[in-house]
Amino acid sequence: MEVVIQPSTAAAVELVAEIIAREVQARPRPVLGLATGRTMESVYTRLVQMHRAERLDFSGCQTFNLDEYVGLQGTDKHSYRHYMNRLFFNQVNIDLRNTHLPHGDARELAAECERYERLIHETGGIDLQLLGIGQSGHIGFNEPPSEANSRTRVVTLAPETIRQNAPLFGADKMPSHAITMGVGTILASKKCLLLATGKSKAGIIQRTIEGPVTTNVPASALQSHPHCTIVLDEAAASALSAEARKR
Ligand code: GLP
Repeated sequence: MEVVIQPSTAAAVELVAEIIAREVQARPRPVLGLATGRTMESVYTRLVQMHRAERLDFSGCQTFNLDEYVGLQGTDKHSYRHYMNRLFFNQVNIDLRNTHLPHGDARELAAECERYERLIHETGGIDLQLLGIGQSGHIGFNEPPSEANSRTRVVTLAPETIRQNAPLFGADKMPSHAITMGVGTILASKKCLLLATGKSKAGIIQRTIEGPVTTNVPASALQSHPHCTIVLDEAAASALSAEARKR
């Protein structure tokens, strides 16, 4: 696992956007795995700027998001589909038909999970998977305990995640379940790129990088990925040992 510590949040975001841009330019049909959450908002803002100012071309991209809330339609303002359309897809030259998220409003959720997993496979797999991290240690919505070989499935959100994300729902009730790619689905990506910023992530980042690989910290499974880069600002890196900072 490569750990890159940047002096500021802006520099960490810039580096992540540059790595994504390089991937987009490297091949004619890039398959990107995408993430949501507050941390990623500025990454999408930067990619949109690159598209406008530097003509970064997303027309050949296929995208697969990590997760979606169960019960929300894509038009719901709290859905991750809405987040992605608003912050990214509608602002760049990507074909919306090539953007994929699990359908949280599907009637047959198990069939929807299978469909999503199959679609990723049929597209040839994910070239670069962008990841955030939840304070519970989740990647996507893989709450503890999540097995390293887990695949796309319905999960119950951890109380910590509900506390973390409920403010985003305002007066509306936050769903208690989500569809998420599994840890195994994420590990099957050719490259992984995790971004964490801010002091609130310092503890879980330390356990992810330096702790044992355990289902109780699902993000720790990334230690076994052959091409995983973790980009941090100083605040998110503040609990790391001197040795881990050199990785
Ligand atoms: C949500 C997403 C995760 C993301 C996390 C981080 O829970 N499902 O994929 O990593 O948010 O959120 P934030 O960036 O808001 O801290």
